[in-house]
Amino acid sequence: MRVCILGASGKLGRYMVQHALDRGHDVVGVCRERSVGKLAPFGDRITIVPGPTDDRAVVGRAVAGCDGVLTVLVPWGVHGYATGTAQAVLDLAPRGARLVFSCGWHITRDGKDVYSRSLRWTVAIFGRVARWLRFADLDDQVEACRRIFASDTRWTVVRGSDLEEGASQGLPVWSRHVGDPVLASNRTRRIDFALFMVAALANDALIREAPAIVGCQTPSALAHAGVER
Ligand SMILES: NC(=O)c1ccc[n+]([C@@H]2O[C@H](COP(=O)([O-])OP(=O)(O)OC[C@H]3O[C@@H](n4cnc5c(N)ncnc54)[C@H](OP(=O)(O)O)[C@@H]3O)[C@@H](O)[C@H]2O)c1
Repeated sequence: MRVCILGASGKLGRYMVQHALDRGHDVVGVCRERSVGKLAPFGDRITIVPGPTDDRAVVGRAVAGCDGVLTVLVPWGVHGYATGTAQAVLDLAPRGARLVFSCGWHITRDGKDVYSRSLRWTVAIFGRVARWLRFADLDDQVEACRRIFASDTRWTVVRGSDLEEGASQGLPVWSRHVGDPVLASNRTRRIDFALFMVAALANDALIREAPAIVGCQTPSALAHAGVER
């Protein structure tokens, strides 16, 4: 499979590159020019297309001929970076390609997620401060996902819990709604978030789903996995 990774130089992106290579995929990575060096450890095992991920010319070049596109959706700045990235992927990826996007639990598809008070406060305060300082705009990620949810492409939006570093524990478990008991631990290893993204490429059951994920070894997952979803 030929797989494009948008945001390949970030923490999540580099884990995805490694998982994709481990599975034998051909990898095309897109990252900002200044971050190309972060992909040096992969040497000539990947093709790099330098540039902003909301640049349609860059995205068009990178996704050409790809069977799958993994996109790290980030709401940096206040000029619609995430929305521009998502729209470019939706418009320019080959018809029929699997499109997998990352975001956080704060994104809701159907409004049926039940959020803890602390998560609501965190999102409200971070959102306001980030926008005020003009370094990020959470509404941009919301709009990006709205467009993805409305699309008839073969998309999956993977919603990550709070993240931590550490060795892989295996494929996270998921649920359609934040608030379901299986997700209560709210903790996923970043390397396993990446594993879920890459595995989703080959899992048609996840097409047009927005799985909220949690580490498979967390207490809530161990107590509830397989019981409900
Ligand atoms: N962090 C969390 O706790 C958390 C929790 C749940 C879900 N998520 C989701 O997980 C995904 C990855 O998040 P992460 O926090 O782990 O970060 P990450 O993987 O390090 O990714 C950050 C990305 O943003 C890029 N970036 C940084 N500053 C930028 C700027 N000013 N303009 C444009 N691009 C910029 C980075 O590119 P460079 O390499 O060029 O800097 C990198 O590709 C996101 O979709 C996020 O919504 C994160």
